[in-house]
Amino acid sequence: MKNMIIFSTLILLFQVALYNCNAEKCDLKGKWKNELGSNMTISDTDKNGYFIGSYLTAVTTHTDVEIKKSPISGVILPSSQPIFAFHVKWTFSDSITTFTGQCFVDSSGERLETMWLLKATARSSDDNWASTRVGSNVFRRLI
Ligand code: BTN
Repeated sequence: MKNMIIFSTLILLFQVALYNCNAEKCDLKGKWKNELGSNMTISDTDKNGYFIGSYLTAVTTHTDVEIKKSPISGVILPSSQPIFAFHVKWTFSDSITTFTGQCFVDSSGERLETMWLLKATARSSDDNWASTRVGSNVFRRLI
């Protein structure tokens, strides 16, 4: 009976350790790809949760531009399944996208569930109503 209790306790501790191990993996650092085929790379997070990175979108609202890598700046609130926000300042377009989301871990790995707002520069206040798009993206870790 005593051995049984020790064994069960060890199994429980192992599961907790495994859970924490997976949870810690949700740190955003690395390469990610979303369902549109866009890629982003997020570098180290500093002690306050701020991070930088780069984004290569697979799609654009423009028909006549060459897509280029664009810088990311963001912040993460550390927890086992952290929430985060970042923006992309597009280098080939007059727009900015903000993303907010949360990192979840499932059997196939880490998943960033995000929602975004894409604001283009409106020519005038009268045109402003048409200058914001909204959507969602799910990112999976590449590396
Ligand atoms: C632009 O077209 O003005 C800049 C590129 C915008 C790309 C958007 S941002 C939200 C969505 N998710 C992506 O990976 N790409 C598009």
